[in-house]
Amino acid sequence: MPSLKIDPSDRLFILTGAGISAESGIQTFRDAGGLWEGHDVVAVASPEGFKKDPQLVWRFYSERRQHVLECNPNAAHDALAVLEQQLTSKPILFTQNVDNLHQRAGSSVLSAMHGNLFKSRCEKCAIPFDDEQLYFDALPQSCINCGGAIRPDIVWFGEEPRDLNIINAVLRCSNVMLVVGTSGRVYPAADFIRKVGKQTRTIYVGLERPANAAYFDELHLGKAGEILPELLAF
Ligand code: OAD
Repeated sequence: MPSLKIDPSDRLFILTGAGISAESGIQTFRDAGGLWEGHDVVAVASPEGFKKDPQLVWRFYSERRQHVLECNPNAAHDALAVLEQQLTSKPILFTQNVDNLHQRAGSSVLSAMHGNLFKSRCEKCAIPFDDEQLYFDALPQSCINCGGAIRPDIVWFGEEPRDLNIINAVLRCSNVMLVVGTSGRVYPAADFIRKVGKQTRTIYVGLERPANAAYFDELHLGKAGEILPELLAF
């Protein structure tokens, strides 16, 4: 398989989605058998759902968290961590994933734009905190400062993803965009491809053609854990 021939001086914008964690044993969302097939999205992943039944939401994320703790980064996460070491400009990685696997593989994630499964925050105070224990308690807790409900630090449907200003700035000054394992159906991430400059080389790596495939210069189809390490070999 030909290598992508990334140059150490390239300025990369990397965006990853659920597909990069599939080979770690973490379900994607929209594939057959994906997470959203078995759950009512509004009930478990929206502010309205949390208001209506916080215990259901808490249980949903608690189960996900326990599962993710049993999973490990795979060869695709590792390949991106190695790539970062070889580039002169960094950090470069944006992810829609909340599973922390890039961080565990050693990447410096510039933004986990959909939040983090291992953080919680008060609905009112809003400041996220590392949360080692809370999820394993049966009930959601109240904030000790203001009494607001403690919720998962996840960006839910109807909420704005994090760090869009930073993302737009990095998009404008990158010369290579590498997108891995995302369906191209969730906005605003699906639109990032249309914000890069005309000279930017755009590359997709994933199991099948994403919904926004037409905008990419190159598509490399296959399992990320199998093909990404070879594609990124210098
Ligand atoms: P999806 O489940 O929508 O898409 C996963 C993509 O990964 C699909 O295009 C698959 O073809 C691809 N894929 C599956 N296995 C793969 C593998 N082994 N290697 C490479 N690619 C593979 O997930 P996302 O696009 O990431 O948001 O979804 C975006 C957001 O939608 C998620 O962050 C989540 C969800 O609602 C929140 O929870 C806020």
